[in-house]
Amino acid sequence: MSLAELQKIEVTAGRPYPVLLGAPLEELGKYVQAHLKDVEHILIITNQAIADLYAERLKKGLLDYRVNLLTVPAGETEKSLERLSQLTTAALRCGADRHSLVIALGGGVIGDLSGFFASVFMRGIRLIQVPTTLLAQVDSSIGGKVAVNHPAGKNIIGAFYPPLAVWTDFTTLESLPWEEVENGLAESVKHALIADASLFDFFETQQESIKQRDTMIWREMVTRSSTVKVKIVSQDEREQGLRALLNLGHSFGHALETVMNYHGVTHGQGVSIGLVAAANLANAKGLITTAEVERIKHLLNTFGLLTEIKDQDPQVLLQLMQADKKNQGGRKILILPQGIGQAVISRDCADSEILDAWKQVIK
Ligand SMILES: NC(=O)c1ccc[n+]([C@@H]2O[C@H](COP(=O)([O-])OP(=O)(O)OC[C@H]3O[C@@H](n4cnc5c(N)ncnc54)[C@H](O)[C@@H]3O)[C@@H](O)[C@H]2O)c1
Repeated sequence: MSLAELQKIEVTAGRPYPVLLGAPLEELGKYVQAHLKDVEHILIITNQAIADLYAERLKKGLLDYRVNLLTVPAGETEKSLERLSQLTTAALRCGADRHSLVIALGGGVIGDLSGFFASVFMRGIRLIQVPTTLLAQVDSSIGGKVAVNHPAGKNIIGAFYPPLAVWTDFTTLESLPWEEVENGLAESVKHALIADASLFDFFETQQESIKQRDTMIWREMVTRSSTVKVKIVSQDEREQGLRALLNLGHSFGHALETVMNYHGVTHGQGVSIGLVAAANLANAKGLITTAEVERIKHLLNTFGLLTEIKDQDPQVLLQLMQADKKNQGGRKILILPQGIGQAVISRDCADSEILDAWKQVIK
């Protein structure tokens, strides 16, 4: 495949950059050669499991460069200032300088950590995101948010640092365990709910092919879902308005993840229950019909995503939503679906309405 044949969607906010879809790992070197000046040294940042699967394919195209592979352990806890400091030491030992290029090879954890590293190392060095999970391909690699966590909360220390390109090789998804697929599906369904009713129809009609990992259907799913994210961040890179819609389901989901101490419910499951709770609240406000709420639940269930949870106290969950960092001036900011394919920012949800929405998902 020649570089000219790659499917490209452009993020047009700030400094524009392409999301290149169906881009083989082996070809990234050619892209770097053609588009980036003065690259001599490349740092590939990943974890060992991903390196075992994909580093050789990536390195095959980078023979003209001095390449160092830096691996970090897997897991959310690696998004830390301690790991950032260790990466800095390792990068300096490799002779990294201001002209080095970082390639973030992995899921959202690697993308966020490596992206934040690239944003601060010597006041910022070049970055290419190579997402290898469904969530990273449709969501986290696009939009320039990079961060590490702090004991006070997730993604508290971060930056907007758009990559020079997002290089999406669909074939990396073949090795992804289904639980990780679910995390990406929850975000993809969310994208459809926010902005693309026909993508929601596509999920409904293609649910079996999606479950069977049909290659062509997955390509279309990733392409259409990433297009939603590209369009939204292109209009509102810095989350001044429209981008907030991407938080649909997340205020509820985060409260649930927090109360369960990030065990027993995955991020995708949390978002899934959050989407249903938000839909229940929207239903009570007359924004979405009961039949549409049932369609949403049915689709999420089809993919193995939870739409209800046992043994939770709605009051505790409500309290946790008080601490959501998206709130403003003590007011809860919630994103609600308006039918299927549109969403609105709501600033006037009463606690009683939020409690009722929780009660409907707690069995
Ligand atoms: N920056 C953003 O805009 C943004 C948006 C959404 C989420 N996030 C962040 O993304 C992170 C979650 O990302 P994630 O869901 O990709 O999880 P992850 O990065 O932890 O990856 C999940 C697991 O899959 C493995 N893996 C990755 N690619 C694989 C492959 N191709 N085959 C087999 N295994 C593979 C990883 O080693 C890891 O164990 C969170 O930290 C979240 O905060 C960021």
